[in-house]
Amino acid sequence: MFAARLLRVSQRVHCPSLASRNISTTSSRHSDALFVHRDTSYNNPKIPFEFTSDNIKRAEEIISRYPPQYKKAAVIPLLDLGQRQNKGWTSISVMNYVAKFLEMPPMRVYEVATFYTMFNREPIGENFVQVCTTTPCMLRGSTEILDTVCGHLGGIKPGETTKDGKFTVIEVECQGACSNAPMMVINDDFYEDLTSATTTKILDAFTKGQKPKPGPQSGRYTSENSAGLTSLTSKPYGPGEFCTPEFS
Ligand code: FES
Repeated sequence: MFAARLLRVSQRVHCPSLASRNISTTSSRHSDALFVHRDTSYNNPKIPFEFTSDNIKRAEEIISRYPPQYKKAAVIPLLDLGQRQNKGWTSISVMNYVAKFLEMPPMRVYEVATFYTMFNREPIGENFVQVCTTTPCMLRGSTEILDTVCGHLGGIKPGETTKDGKFTVIEVECQGACSNAPMMVINDDFYEDLTSATTTKILDAFTKGQKPKPGPQSGRYTSENSAGLTSLTSKPYGPGEFCTPEFS
């Protein structure tokens, strides 16, 4: 009986009429590309890296937030600092420098940099576009947004960089802005309530070197109901209103 039920479930899963989209549209990356470092001409320990004097000051300020015996706790913010200085990616030299700065074994830094996907282990384009395709965004049209981004950037696929080096596109999981889905992140900013048209407009602005206004592109201020107020429509009372005779 269990086998029969399993068969019914598997028939449902494989029914072509129920299939709507692939679970993932990003080209698969093999685990050695994600976790293993192999020396290349552009990424090897002989390439020098050290913080600028401004970043040394920043790093020292970050480290001062932790007890002296736990300064290795600053590894993530320091890797982030290194990645920003290194044009958006974390090379082996960045990792080795951070390890030396924090007096910790380089392997401990490699473990962190290969675990968190926010650390790019390969060079990226001038603008880093991350399109969210997790369920809430998918239900609100992220497949179309991803297709628009890739199509508008010359038909590149997620994980690739445009020939002119201006854009890298990847597909990411939930960015915590589901109430303004669908959304994408470009560099450090969120672009929300996207449509195909607004997505194209945003990409065109970045191509021209401009920075369009981040946030909802629908005219919403934040994540208020786009249909207007449907409850709690009376004028809000201020503090102390409850002290009227009827409540005392
Ligand atoms: S699902 Fe896209 S921001 Fe949460």
